[in-house]
Amino acid sequence: MLVNSNNLPWPEKHRPRSLDLIVGNPERIQNLKAWILSWKTRIPEKRAVLLIGPPGTGKTASIGALANDLDMEIVEFNSSDKRNKDSIETLVWRAASQQTLDGRPRIILLDEVDGLSGTSDRGGIGAIIKVIKSSVHPIMMTANDPDSPRLKDLFKICQVYNFEPIDSERMSEVLTRIAKLNKAEVSQDIIDQIIDNCAGDLRAAISDLEAYVKRGTKPESVDSAIRDMRRGTEDTLRRLFMTTDPKLARKLLSESELDHDSLILWLEENIHLHFLTPDELDKGLDSLSLADLSLGRIMRNQNWKLLAYMYDFLAVGVAGGRTDTPYRKVSYSRPTWPLLVFQGNKSREKRTDVLSSLSRLTGVSKRRAVRTHLDTITEIVGISPSKTKDYADWLGVDKASLKKRGKN
Ligand SMILES: Nc1ncnc2c1ncn2[C@@H]1O[C@H](COP(=O)(O)OP(=O)(O)OP(=O)(O)O)[C@@H](O)[C@H]1O
Ligand SMILES: [Mg+2]
Repeated sequence: MLVNSNNLPWPEKHRPRSLDLIVGNPERIQNLKAWILSWKTRIPEKRAVLLIGPPGTGKTASIGALANDLDMEIVEFNSSDKRNKDSIETLVWRAASQQTLDGRPRIILLDEVDGLSGTSDRGGIGAIIKVIKSSVHPIMMTANDPDSPRLKDLFKICQVYNFEPIDSERMSEVLTRIAKLNKAEVSQDIIDQIIDNCAGDLRAAISDLEAYVKRGTKPESVDSAIRDMRRGTEDTLRRLFMTTDPKLARKLLSESELDHDSLILWLEENIHLHFLTPDELDKGLDSLSLADLSLGRIMRNQNWKLLAYMYDFLAVGVAGGRTDTPYRKVSYSRPTWPLLVFQGNKSREKRTDVLSSLSRLTGVSKRRAVRTHLDTITEIVGISPSKTKDYADWLGVDKASLKKRGKN
């Protein structure tokens, strides 16, 4: 079926067809091209390259553009079912070790190899290394996480290219060009705002430009504030779930701007997307609940020394917990019961008040207080309304806030 490129999301619609349209990281891209060209004369010492860098910097796009410019065939193995040890030993090996019938040069693409970084995939990386050693075609791989311990073995046998975030001027050029191609008038000021929000991620910037143009109105500040927060949160989650190194996870946690309660909520809401075996999930949820318990103690006694323990529980539970399931990209959902007061919902504000008091009085974190206390209290005052005043006085809140809550 032919896809009408007009229906594609802009980052895909404007996927660069040629290296001339790739911006940023110029030396790396030149070296990459030189490496590919060197295959014409003889098989180079390093038969594989690994492009590592943050999302949306043009790693996959550069490989596609290069293949296009040089009229090479790309054989891609990107879905996880094609990348277990057995498939690598058979399918990838076959593609890499056999000459093409028509003599057309071929690139073997293994996109997002950090997806192989779980322990059970140890064999997967081993199999890739074997394939690389005997490949008669260039092998190109990409990854996001430079600290993935499993990639260390690959480093030795590949030429590694670190892709940097794209700088503002280059981003601006691309956004201006794309706006023009879509006959959209977008001021430099808006383009600058979009770029400021995207931290060198060109895919995200193009996507924001598309959202801006299609919405047809100026972005409101609240709107972009929420989006910023969401993007920051998703980025933190992605990096946390990607790594299997608790030390790195701990660093990411302590650098995160999310408040601790929300962090635990987000992790709890999304952990099942990465922890697929019952064993992983069991241990992961255990660590999250220990972290939550520490947070409760911290709140009760203002004992911030315990923060280190909380981070450790989270780091061990999240990074150390994914022992079987390989990392894969997923879409995260926001917690079902977010403590996001800025949504300005009155009943929510009231609930937050009640929860703050409960948390202070009981030493349980706000989130847990919903289950351990608030649900019970609202149940009790639902049955015997005469008790409402007692509870309200105890918590120092007004009686209305203890009414049984509706569906949300
Ligand atoms: N350096 C770049 N030059 C031009 N366009 C780019 C560049 N980087 C990203 N883009 C745009 O963003 C889209 C996604 O880029 P690409 O797939 O190369 O990202 P990536 O670095 O592989 O990210 P990920 O790590 O998430 O796979 C491209 O189709 C293109 O529209
Ligand atoms: Mg990619």
